[in-house]
Amino acid sequence: MQIAPSLLSCDFSRFGEEIARVDAAGADLMHLDIMDGHFVPNLTFGAPIIKKLRKYTEKPFDVHLMISEPHRYIDDFADAGADIISFHTECDSDIGETLNMIEKRGVKPALAIKPGTSPKAVLPYLDRLYMVLVMTVEPGFGGQRFMADMMPKVEYLRRVIAERNLGTLIEVDGGIAKDTIGAAASAGVDICVAGTAVFGAADAKAAIDELKALC
Ligand code: DX5
Ligand code: ZN
Repeated sequence: MQIAPSLLSCDFSRFGEEIARVDAAGADLMHLDIMDGHFVPNLTFGAPIIKKLRKYTEKPFDVHLMISEPHRYIDDFADAGADIISFHTECDSDIGETLNMIEKRGVKPALAIKPGTSPKAVLPYLDRLYMVLVMTVEPGFGGQRFMADMMPKVEYLRRVIAERNLGTLIEVDGGIAKDTIGAAASAGVDICVAGTAVFGAADAKAAIDELKALC
């Protein structure tokens, strides 16, 4: 299992140091949550901040766009140093066109689905995706309860990915902690995002090690 700490729960006044800290603690990717106050009822930060953060780690930047019109910002996030860009099937942009833009920039494309969305929404694009992000909370805020009833979606996607002989990764995001990561691992998840579980712990390395050991 790979662990992607969600920087949403870090101390934003020391953003760069927080990235360096979870890098040293064994984070596999840095999960960066971008919210526009429209697609979700919360605001975070944008590409200029990501660009400034790039020098604090060599680990991949996993950029999760919770914004209504992702196609307008793909070039900005690519320029800022994103390695993976996830956007939501429920957004207002044309999905195929937005994937084209991400691919053209040599960034790894991913599609995300909210809890109410069927995993079938990603099937027309699955062959093009580096990753599918299955939300296990309603997007917008850290610290919510893990929705275990999303695991059948993960199992379904795992089956289709195997049937089609694809290497697509599956990521879950929301409520991952000591008592929930086992369910995600059993369902076939490759990458777990963890905000509160990593940044709420006194020792980030111990927290990441323990999450991995529970898989
Ligand atoms: C929620 C974000 C998540 C969030 C996860 O909309 O996409 O990445 O920060 O936080 P925890 O792990 O606290 O649920
Ligand atoms: Zn996220």
